[in-house]
Amino acid sequence: MDKDKTYAIAIDGPSGAGKSSLARTAAREIGFVYVDTGAIYRTVGWAALCRGAEDAAAVAALLPETRISMDYGADGAQRMYLNGEDVSEKIRLPEVSMAASRVSALPEVRSFLLDMQRSLAEQSRVIMDGRDIGTVVLPRADVKIFLTASVEDRARRRYQELCQRGTAKDFDQLLREIEQRDYNDTHRAAAPLRPAEDAVVLDTTGNTFQQSLRQILDIIRERIAL
Ligand code: DC
Repeated sequence: MDKDKTYAIAIDGPSGAGKSSLARTAAREIGFVYVDTGAIYRTVGWAALCRGAEDAAAVAALLPETRISMDYGADGAQRMYLNGEDVSEKIRLPEVSMAASRVSALPEVRSFLLDMQRSLAEQSRVIMDGRDIGTVVLPRADVKIFLTASVEDRARRRYQELCQRGTAKDFDQLLREIEQRDYNDTHRAAAPLRPAEDAVVLDTTGNTFQQSLRQILDIIRERIAL
């Protein structure tokens, strides 16, 4: 690996495909910084919920007074701050998922967050996950992976994740919400979710976590001599 080069790895895909946990573990394994851009959108979604900003104009009006920052805790977990307040737990509430999906469709929000995401990739070697990392944020990323899985598989994973957090939810409702978010994310005009032309598409349906991790690390190592 060229010691002076800032490598960037983009992992995009729909909700619940396992991007975060796989990207985080892969980053640890190869010594890269993991950046969860969904958490950044969730922080804007949380800000919109708190301020009751319902429509596009209200959300856009909120942005000039919205300061978003992040750091990494001692355990390596990415922590998100909204105007200095640690909102890392709040942004995981189920209602914030929908709010994040809603605000992420707004071009004003996307351009507001673009520089922040790009400068993170300039500072360190990153594995960045999201929806438009390979297509818009880091179009020159060294490795691009589009991670997907069936809706049922993704709903099952999200269900287990929420149960572990103690915020269990009805499975069918979760499934419908994932379908709705898929629709929102792929049909919005601004940076819709789609694989970059040069992305490797990885379908993890039926895989164990370790199988998917191995496949991701193989794809990375084929393209970057680590
Ligand atoms: O990955 P997640 O579920 O935490 O993301 C929350 C929402 O943010 C999701 O609906 C899609 C949106 N998002 C986006 O539009 N672009 C990104 N790069 C990351 C997330």
